Amino acid sequence: MSYRDNPQAIADLVRATEVHRDLFINEEVFQLEMEHLFANTWVYVGHASQVPNTGDFFTTTVGDQPVLMIRQADGEVKVLHNRCPHKGVMVVHGASGNAGRFLRCPYHAWNFKLDGSLLALPLKRGYDPERFAADEASHGMAPVENVKNYRDFVFVRLNPQGVSFEEFFGESLSTLDNMVDRSPEGKLEVTGGVLRYMHNCNWKMLVDNQSDTCHPMIAHESSAGTAVKVWEEAPPGTPKPMAVEQFAPFISAYEFFEGMGIRVWENGHGHTGVSNSIHAAYSDVPGYWEQMVQAYGEERAKEILGDVRHNTTYFPHIMVKGPIQTLRIFKPLAANKTLVESWTFRLVGAPDRLLERTLMYNRLINAPTSVVGHDDCEMYERAQQGLMSRGREWVNVARLYEPGEEERKNEITNGTNEWQMRNQYRAWSRYLTASMTTPQKQDKEFA
Ligand code: FES
Ligand SMILES: [Fe+2]
Repeated sequence: MSYRDNPQAIADLVRATEVHRDLFINEEVFQLEMEHLFANTWVYVGHASQVPNTGDFFTTTVGDQPVLMIRQADGEVKVLHNRCPHKGVMVVHGASGNAGRFLRCPYHAWNFKLDGSLLALPLKRGYDPERFAADEASHGMAPVENVKNYRDFVFVRLNPQGVSFEEFFGESLSTLDNMVDRSPEGKLEVTGGVLRYMHNCNWKMLVDNQSDTCHPMIAHESSAGTAVKVWEEAPPGTPKPMAVEQFAPFISAYEFFEGMGIRVWENGHGHTGVSNSIHAAYSDVPGYWEQMVQAYGEERAKEILGDVRHNTTYFPHIMVKGPIQTLRIFKPLAANKTLVESWTFRLVGAPDRLLERTLMYNRLINAPTSVVGHDDCEMYERAQQGLMSRGREWVNVARLYEPGEEERKNEITNGTNEWQMRNQYRAWSRYLTASMTTPQKQDKEFA
């Protein structure tokens, strides 16, 4: 059976409490995700602090589409498809840099303004002006029309039609707000590079894992458990190392995770850690509280720092941790291949110790050399292999399911509920099929 042009077949893959293994292993489903899901949803491109000056660019992908984010002379951040209108060469190569005053294709030196429009090309007299004006190439590099810069987080929606940014993210933007507000100056900067880590599994396994609170005490027992054991044997009076503060909560009991709660928003977004989280008990950083009180007043500062959300999933494929200032992207490369990027932010104006904490967390938990990240990676890769088995067809997400939950929005529930996972899979089905068409009879003659 083919899934192409068959939205009903896609919708049938998501049931109330289980999803079909084809979500994770089927190449055609993956291709449809690239064409529809990553075009219909608002997808994170990068942070404006990565391109501070005119001409600065950052290259990345939206689904399987190569794009670049580039700072214009008027300060705006634009996003362009990274494709020369001449013979198709990617105009910009390399992760980031500065283009100067214009972009130049390395193949035949067609030049483009920073907004992608065609500036000049060699031997222009070889083109009849009228004919050339009718060609697509005369428009230069294609800009992405729907770009939203939300407090320096840059998102795009590739499809011209669809849900608005505000409607898509709704109240979930409060997590980005909280991360930005943690800076006494209300500003973040990408700092400390990026950790890239290849996973031989489907990207949705990582998205699923962000609200999987029944795995840490099991899968991370060997890593976090060992850290706790070593700490227990430290001589009395030893100051608690930052690494132990970060490792230890991973092996908290089920009751801890049940009690911390999960908030489920619309469109696949949600977060763990409503009333408590693994980030709640970090020690104070001298001077920070005073800075925050000065910037916001005591009441507001308390509100900002008292919000210790754990993982916020922004559907389809990023996760943000406000209290530790990290953002992770689960970049789909193939049905069984995902590049995981972990980005860190500096709270502008805050003490350096906070950045140190952020960087340490990223290295301890998310790096290819981390111990915690490997526990998860092994589970995803074993799942990818296990799902090849035809012994069972479905993956289960039934925990604490309540009939009718599909209609409820912005709810807080038990921290081990799999509602947020179900919320993601429902959004997956909805946004994937939104622009799919049912098979139509092909007209033999082209119009
Ligand atoms: S392919 Fe870009 S100038 Fe020819
Ligand atoms: Fe984990």
